[in-house]
Amino acid sequence: KTNDFSVALRAHDLLQKFYHHFLVNTKEGKDALLYLEKRGFTDKEIERFQIGYAPNSSDLATRFFEKRGFNLYELVKSGLLSRRESDGKFYDRFRNRIMFPIWDHQGRTIGFGGRSLSDEEPKYLNSPDTKLFNKGKILYGLHLAKPAIRKKEQVVLFEGYIDVISAWRAGVENGVATLGTSLTEEQARIIRRNAETVVICYDSDHAGINAAYRAQSILTNVGCTVRIAKMPEGYDPDEYILAFGHESFQKNVIDQSMTLMAFKMDYLRKGKNLKNEGELIAYIEEVLKEISMLPGAIERDHYLRQLSEEFSISLDALKSEQYQIYRKLR
Ligand code: UTP
Ligand code: MN
Ligand code: MN
Ligand code: MN
Ligand code: MN
Repeated sequence: KTNDFSVALRAHDLLQKFYHHFLVNTKEGKDALLYLEKRGFTDKEIERFQIGYAPNSSDLATRFFEKRGFNLYELVKSGLLSRRESDGKFYDRFRNRIMFPIWDHQGRTIGFGGRSLSDEEPKYLNSPDTKLFNKGKILYGLHLAKPAIRKKEQVVLFEGYIDVISAWRAGVENGVATLGTSLTEEQARIIRRNAETVVICYDSDHAGINAAYRAQSILTNVGCTVRIAKMPEGYDPDEYILAFGHESFQKNVIDQSMTLMAFKMDYLRKGKNLKNEGELIAYIEEVLKEISMLPGAIERDHYLRQLSEEFSISLDALKSEQYQIYRKLR
């Protein structure tokens, strides 16, 4: 019902401002502010992304809403409060967390992500999916990034809000993120509607690389041209920016992102011992299959030559093998 929606929207808007106020104006927010400073966040990021702090209290938000005459049951359904089964008491969902408002694509707050301050589990607590908020349909930061996306005709896709915000600080303003879940087809379509090219900039760890592999396939299927950012193993974008600086992130990570084919060639090598002849041949077959799916003859030629040089296999042999694979595929 429209009325439920407008109440939930108003509650999110009020709570977002309340949390932001606690972070920037109160004694309770001091430690949170220090924590953000230590991570390199300045006032600029705190304002642009309306970051806040949920104090360490079990009923602060609850009392705030009660005083304003909100129906607390509705707020439980909206994911802002919780209710204890045993005695029916309402209490705050978010406590002692840095709060990141999550917006719909028009910029209305429809959920929150909360980062624990003390490395207490879970590290990230997001709003649950509600009538208003559906994680698979939202790209974090899209309404803020839109002008830069249009200008560059490119989207940079991150794992989470911290990475989007750090990248913005580093001058990469066309970043969006999924919210702790893998990319959905619906999110991929939204990206495609805004730009053709996507640079996937996920964490450079096992999970991140596998997630990037899945994401590229979904993005390719909806017609995106995909590139993959490469960082030293173990870094995520936020850590890279802190360690190597803004300029290096722009120049060496975003501008030097790999073509999709180069990424796949790296990816397919993982766990294979290419000194072993059988594994090498299997690897080359897999790469040839990928090459066969490239639309352009020049592109195919480029990667065939690369393979030929790296493994000292004649170009002719690779070409005829690739042609066989191509015929089988169609
Ligand atoms: P990571 O698990 O890589 O966080 O999740 P991290 O980089 O270690 O976190 P920090 O740097 O110590 O704070 C990446 C992003 O995915 C989202 C968050 O936005 C996070 O920044 N995420 C992760 C969720 O939304 N929910 C989760 O349960 C986990
Ligand atoms: Mn402010
Ligand atoms: Mn990660
Ligand atoms: Mn990370
Ligand atoms: Mn991180």
